[in-house]
Amino acid sequence: MVVDHHDFAFGHMAVVDHDVDRLAGKPIELDHLVWFELEQIVQGHFRAAQMEMDGHSDVLQLLQIERSPCRFPVLDFQRILHCDSCFGRAFSYYNPLAMTNAAPGIPGSLSIKHMPGLRGVPREDLRAILDSAQFFRAGLDRRDSFPKSLAGVSVVNLFFENSTRTRLSFETAQKKLGASPMNFTASSSSAAKGESLRDTVRNIEAMGADVFVVRHSSAGVPKFLADHTSAVVINAGDGACEHPTQGLLDALTMRQHLGELEGREVAIIGDIRHSRVARSNIWALSTLGARVRLWGPATLLPRSPNAFGSSVTVAQSLDAALDGADAVVLLRIQHERQSSGMLPSLREYRQSFGIDQSRLKLARPEALVLHPGPINRGVEVVSEVADGHQSVILEQVTNGVAVRMACLHLLAGRAV
Ligand code: CP
Repeated sequence: MVVDHHDFAFGHMAVVDHDVDRLAGKPIELDHLVWFELEQIVQGHFRAAQMEMDGHSDVLQLLQIERSPCRFPVLDFQRILHCDSCFGRAFSYYNPLAMTNAAPGIPGSLSIKHMPGLRGVPREDLRAILDSAQFFRAGLDRRDSFPKSLAGVSVVNLFFENSTRTRLSFETAQKKLGASPMNFTASSSSAAKGESLRDTVRNIEAMGADVFVVRHSSAGVPKFLADHTSAVVINAGDGACEHPTQGLLDALTMRQHLGELEGREVAIIGDIRHSRVARSNIWALSTLGARVRLWGPATLLPRSPNAFGSSVTVAQSLDAALDGADAVVLLRIQHERQSSGMLPSLREYRQSFGIDQSRLKLARPEALVLHPGPINRGVEVVSEVADGHQSVILEQVTNGVAVRMACLHLLAGRAV
């Protein structure tokens, strides 16, 4: 059996990944291009995960010994059966369709100058950000150092709302690109003494801020800042409006597993009305050609779903939303953004809308399970699914660093 770059690009190895027993003992030839990239990815993955089990070093040895510039290397699956799951995971990171751009991208090359949201962002910009993020993700896996395109750029993280993933991943991304970010926390600032948002930002800008990364409980704050400062503004989540870097990292995670998203079916389930993640997902996915099905309690569905365009539909039932879906995005109940009385009880929510293994079977076999976090275990999803083999929730978090590096580099970086 011969696998060339073309087969690989169209998901052949995804079959191998899930069918490793059937292929046991059959030599598989990989062309040199596939081999080279696979080697990079496997090594990066193992290094990143610091895995020390016996089988893994076998694979590395196999890769090192058998790669040869003068002949196609042969991969014997019998020899790697003991580490198939790990190897399969390395394969799953590899998707040449998602890795067409082996460069970080050129700062200033996007048509957008700020990122208040993904609504209306052209497909070319989305693709450029995802390609750039894929470059950074591969580098993160290999523990590379990166071009310091944010050296000398003054970045301020303005968080008026709590955050774990977004805040830490923005800070990680900024440091990896050479910035020394300043962190503003509303509760320990003069905002707690009543200083207005506008005055707060104008004072920080007077210290020389070039970039604001802002999270706020009110929708529209990033747009307001973009209109009133000369700094680059990136939205880290505004009320129930948008969370664009989350939408991008979700799209990146799907693209790594599914290839290009054109024609893919994505179910978004839960509290969609109050979810900024859902909105950014909808705008990104529909611009990239995916079809989106929404489902949740009637009180938590969007009031005007038609506003999202023809590729977004409200399903008729949970089963219909899940039926044959390529990816399932689960959302938590946003207690902080909803008035009381929108849900009878969490127990009833779990019974009617919670995703367990039997419900997940309605989706396509091996459908991806995504969740932006934080998870309410046992409410919107049971732990067996959240931690199961179809879950890419922690991959989303890693991709969050890569996507934020890409956004910062492209919007605020300097040529290096
Ligand atoms: N996904 C997300 O926005 O998580 P945090 O609230 O922890 O940043």
